[in-house]
Amino acid sequence: MRSVCLSLLLVSACWALPFRQSGFMDFMMEDEPGSGDHGPKIQDNDFPVLVAGPKCPFRCQCHLRVIQCSDLGLKAVPEDIPHDTTLLDLQNNKITEIKENDFKNLKGLHALILVNNKITVIHAKALTPLTKLQRLYLSKNMLKDVPANMPKSLQELRIHENQITKFKKASFQGMAHMIVMELGSNPLKSAGVEPSAFSDLKRVSYIRIADTNITEIPKGLPSSLSELHLDGNKITKVTADSLKGLKQLAKLGLSYNEISSVENGTLANVPHLRELHLDNNGLTSVPAGLPDHKYIQVVYLHSNKIATIGTEDFCPPGFNTKKAMYSGISLFSNPVSYWEIQPVTFRCVFDRSAIQLGNYRKK
Ligand SMILES: *[C@@H]1O[C@H](CO)[C@@H](O)[C@H](O)[C@H]1NC(C)=O
Ligand SMILES: *[C@@H]1O[C@H](CO)[C@@H](O)[C@H](O)[C@H]1NC(C)=O
Repeated sequence: MRSVCLSLLLVSACWALPFRQSGFMDFMMEDEPGSGDHGPKIQDNDFPVLVAGPKCPFRCQCHLRVIQCSDLGLKAVPEDIPHDTTLLDLQNNKITEIKENDFKNLKGLHALILVNNKITVIHAKALTPLTKLQRLYLSKNMLKDVPANMPKSLQELRIHENQITKFKKASFQGMAHMIVMELGSNPLKSAGVEPSAFSDLKRVSYIRIADTNITEIPKGLPSSLSELHLDGNKITKVTADSLKGLKQLAKLGLSYNEISSVENGTLANVPHLRELHLDNNGLTSVPAGLPDHKYIQVVYLHSNKIATIGTEDFCPPGFNTKKAMYSGISLFSNPVSYWEIQPVTFRCVFDRSAIQLGNYRKK
């Protein structure tokens, strides 16, 4: 019983940290081997008695309503999954297709993990019965599209490393409970996200679309967003409009793009921004608006083409202004020599170790 409780504890701990969940299943694997067996059990009185254990698909591990069938070389979803299952883990198998009736009876399912299979097709009605599904993990498959008719109850969708070329508005229509979306490493072209594709996601707080070929920040982002990660794309500029209304945005990741300008007014549109990652781009100046921004703490600008830094770029004018939330400013690997930056530039930064200037090394 103790180990079952521990497993449950880990499951809930992992829900609290949706981005670092790998590993908890491994733990469950080691936990009470054979507890899913149906075979004879030795009872206290030492007489072998045939116990009709709860149903569990062959070779899977079943703990209460958690069904764990990972790493079994499965080519299809097992048939005899108990109807009251809440978590079904099928990751690291060889499943190629999800058929219409694969999940027909799993009306209580909360989490479905299909990461790292070879899925090319999910039947348009396969997910319809899962009216309580909150977490759908489909990363590392060969899907060409977001599944049709995803349950409206969904809170977390992970579908990175597939073959999706476009995120369409229709795919996310009415998904009012969605909180986390991990969509990166798909072969998206320049306009790979339809305008307003995410506008129905009224509660979404985290979107990540990294390592694709999109050339602009998706349009019509929901105002609930607190983290937007768009690193490793081909974005060429940041317009003020693209972040309009994102009053809750705290972290913006735009590292490793091709950004040459950040429009004046952009930072004013995201008044609660704390972290701005613009390193490894083609910027020639520090983005405007930093001195007036109240909450910005981290500004990464290293590895750009910034040749001059003005004394008003980071701090408000004058010496008596209390600003000083800065905890990280990076400017190294820019064509400005650090000795040319006047020390008063950082007059509002209390912790000088927060500033990384370094040297520009010509290669
Ligand atoms: C981006 O475009 C380049 C050039 O067309 C291509 O080689 C690359 O595979 C594309 N990357 C993605 C993630 O689609
Ligand atoms: C940005 O816009 C503000 C307000 O319109 C203006 O006062 C300021 O000079 C502008 N800054 C730059 C660098 O253009």
